[in-house]
Amino acid sequence: MTLAYPRRNELARTPTPLQYLERASQNWGRGHRLWVKRDDLTGCTLSGNKVRKLEFITAYAQDNGYDTLITCGGLQSNHCRATAFAGARLGLQVHLLLRGERPADADGNLLLDEIAGATVSCYPPRRFFSEIDQLFNHWQQHYAERGRQALAIPTGGSDGIGVWGYIRACEELQDDFSAAGIEQAHLVTATGSGGTQAGLTLGVALHKLPATVWGVNVCDDEQYFLDKTAADAADWHARYPRATMPDFKPRVLDGYVGDGYGIAGDHIFELIAELGRLEGLVLDPVYTGKAFAGMLAEIQQGRFSGCRDIVFLHTGGIFGVFPQRNHFNW
Ligand SMILES: Cc1ncc(COP(=O)(O)O)c(C=O)c1O
Repeated sequence: MTLAYPRRNELARTPTPLQYLERASQNWGRGHRLWVKRDDLTGCTLSGNKVRKLEFITAYAQDNGYDTLITCGGLQSNHCRATAFAGARLGLQVHLLLRGERPADADGNLLLDEIAGATVSCYPPRRFFSEIDQLFNHWQQHYAERGRQALAIPTGGSDGIGVWGYIRACEELQDDFSAAGIEQAHLVTATGSGGTQAGLTLGVALHKLPATVWGVNVCDDEQYFLDKTAADAADWHARYPRATMPDFKPRVLDGYVGDGYGIAGDHIFELIAELGRLEGLVLDPVYTGKAFAGMLAEIQQGRFSGCRDIVFLHTGGIFGVFPQRNHFNW
């Protein structure tokens, strides 16, 4: 289908490879072929799923007179780090509103935020959650008073602009499927702010990709993501009404959050180490580790039976491994 995409900045290294996981398929596949779409390779510091969204979001910012990007997330937010580097690459100032207390030593993504020259403001979690809208307004006002114009990018870049990233990625997956001889697949992704899942769900329908998209939630619950992805899709359609809104059916694999967002059990760290040894692939404890574990558990339960191919979208997150180094038992 020919879609009228808005302008985007070419920030991501695409197409990313679709890689067959031979030993993981033997170990855990139960007859399925396991594949990984390597969106952890969209760049180095500008890596992961957020880069695809930021291609469209930064172009929107430039085309609408914004010179500053404000966004928010946890202290180890991959989205914030990717935004910091996208801004640096394009000459846009970046201000990050982070949840948590600034540690004495910056590590992982936070260290990279600083290297990219982003302005970082940290807020205690309670204040962050209750006042995030006011904080965005406050800083937008702050920049306006200084003659600047700041775009507020929501958590994870998940809105009607950001979803274009994974609508477009589905075109890439069409080529991947043809090259790999995949006729029908289940496509599994971590879902945290919903935009990747919303984009894939829209993209699969719009491009008629023979795939069923599943989001493994790493926070909140199934209902939250059914609502959030539907809201992102509705925002997309409201902003781009000339695009046809397809039948939108999000699917969530709930039950793998564990003790909470960013808190992973021992089995996740063991899985990260095992997959590292087995396939040379690094997952992270916040997103992809939980999502991969969820996918394996669902394979065990027969969720995907009748379909040979399962594609795991590797959404990145490697820098989140380092601040949790103490949880690995060697
Ligand atoms: C590594 C990684 N994977 C998956 C996700 C989830 O993507 P989304 O926020 O679009 O749901 C995120 C961000 O939240 C992420 O940083």
